[in-house]
Amino acid sequence: MSEARVVLGVAGASGAALGLSIARQLSDMQVETDLVTSAAAERTLDAECGAQALATLQGLVTRCHAIDDIGASIASGSVPVAGMIVAPCSMRSLAAIGHGLDDNLLTRAASVQLKERRRLILLTREAPLTLAHLRNMTAATELGAVILPPVPAFYLKPQNVAAIVDQIAARAIDMLNVAAPVAQRWGATG
Ligand SMILES: Cc1cc2nc3c(=O)[nH]c(=O)nc-3n(C[C@H](O)[C@H](O)[C@H](O)COP(=O)(O)O)c2cc1C
Repeated sequence: MSEARVVLGVAGASGAALGLSIARQLSDMQVETDLVTSAAAERTLDAECGAQALATLQGLVTRCHAIDDIGASIASGSVPVAGMIVAPCSMRSLAAIGHGLDDNLLTRAASVQLKERRRLILLTREAPLTLAHLRNMTAATELGAVILPPVPAFYLKPQNVAAIVDQIAARAIDMLNVAAPVAQRWGATG
């Protein structure tokens, strides 16, 4: 197990496979991972990745926290974690994070990263975007979060959806700077 510890939040936007890929890659890298999933995320995991997806996700991480457990370790800045990824991040969770609502453990843990000046990577997913979505992305960015929409790296010529998902997940992990970069790079394909 490496020294690094990170928080993975999975909210109820489309793209639940992103959360699974990030958990799998962090597990492969032996990075200690704390997981918190919203109720809506559990629904999208089931709808998009199958009935076993939540159990698979939970089996990949070090610790699972209930969304309403606001007394969990990751709710405190005193617990040393390198940062947090929310993947996918719904517009609801984005709005809560951008306005410091701390209304559940996912948004509280996100706020903790901001107040401790740690990395917070939000894989915000919605299309098209309303002015409210754009304003909330601005608000979260002003607070210190990184908005990383799950956009395919077309220049890498991905062969299937899994390759797209894994590349986006790797980019998010690389932004935490917890291990040697894992994302495929332009020019590294031949
Ligand atoms: C199948 C499905 C797909 C959804 N896709 C999105 C999405 O892409 N983006 C989004 O912001 N909300 C999406 N939603 C709506 C959110 O799940 C909903 O706003 C929820 O309240 C978010 O709660 P959370 O932020 O606590 O996860 C989707 C819901 C379902 C059931």
